[in-house]
Amino acid sequence: MANIIDGKKISADIRGEIAAEVAEMKNNGTTPGLAVIIVGENPASKVYVRNKGKGCAEVGMYSEIIEMAEETSEKTLIAKINELNERSDIHGILVQLPLPKHINERAVIEAIDPKKDVDAFAPVNIGEMMLGTADFLPCTPAGIMELLKRSGVSVEGKDCVVIGRSNIVGKPIAQLLLAANGTVTICHSRTRDLAEVTRRADILVVAIGKADFVTGDMVKDGVVVIDVGMNRKADGKLTGDVDYASVAPKASYITPVPGGVGPMTITMLLRNTLTAAKKQSK
Ligand code: GUN
Repeated sequence: MANIIDGKKISADIRGEIAAEVAEMKNNGTTPGLAVIIVGENPASKVYVRNKGKGCAEVGMYSEIIEMAEETSEKTLIAKINELNERSDIHGILVQLPLPKHINERAVIEAIDPKKDVDAFAPVNIGEMMLGTADFLPCTPAGIMELLKRSGVSVEGKDCVVIGRSNIVGKPIAQLLLAANGTVTICHSRTRDLAEVTRRADILVVAIGKADFVTGDMVKDGVVVIDVGMNRKADGKLTGDVDYASVAPKASYITPVPGGVGPMTITMLLRNTLTAAKKQSK
């Protein structure tokens, strides 16, 4: 039976480490500060944003949640970002996605000073990640690498299979696994004979947003499974992209949903904010 990778526990450990560093920075006169902008009334986004604020408070950081109306123009939003770019008490800026349709996401992300882009979504920071010279990494992929590391799973030489090719998870996690010397295959909706590919995986990362999509017959014995999915079932329960009941018995390590990857995303955001504050206070 698989070792369960406890994202809550690992996340709490890292938040403790971050809190200690924040306390030390505060003693030296700097409180790391994060601004989170939310535009409109998306209920899921509101929950995420509230949790980001709570995360900051937990580690002793300053946070500011800026709520803007659905009708806010792109120009007004970018003006707000420019104002935050100039503030020395704000070290990280995050604009919660998705944005209302009349706003160009790319233009908004590019308006954030790359030094304050703690989501690491800006083209410059994605480029730095590709080159292996990034100050901060996108939060969910960084969280996955930390889960593997702290569980004692080595990536070196392993066959790593990623299902999903989003800019936020699939593409960057493939890059980080490659940088850790994995042999990486990226699968997606057009992949032929997906199960034939996934059965070769030593490490399988699933980020496609389809409930219980990966089943036991699609993995080999001993596989390490990272489930990035967060799907709401008809009964209201949260479920991953992996059919836990059939996959866990074959896995050596597996992340549960909830309590696996989920808690790590905000933790990595806090770490990026700390890193940004350190760089800017030098
Ligand atoms: N929407 C869903 N996930 C994220 C994230 O990690 N960052 C931002 N800014 N928006 C999101």
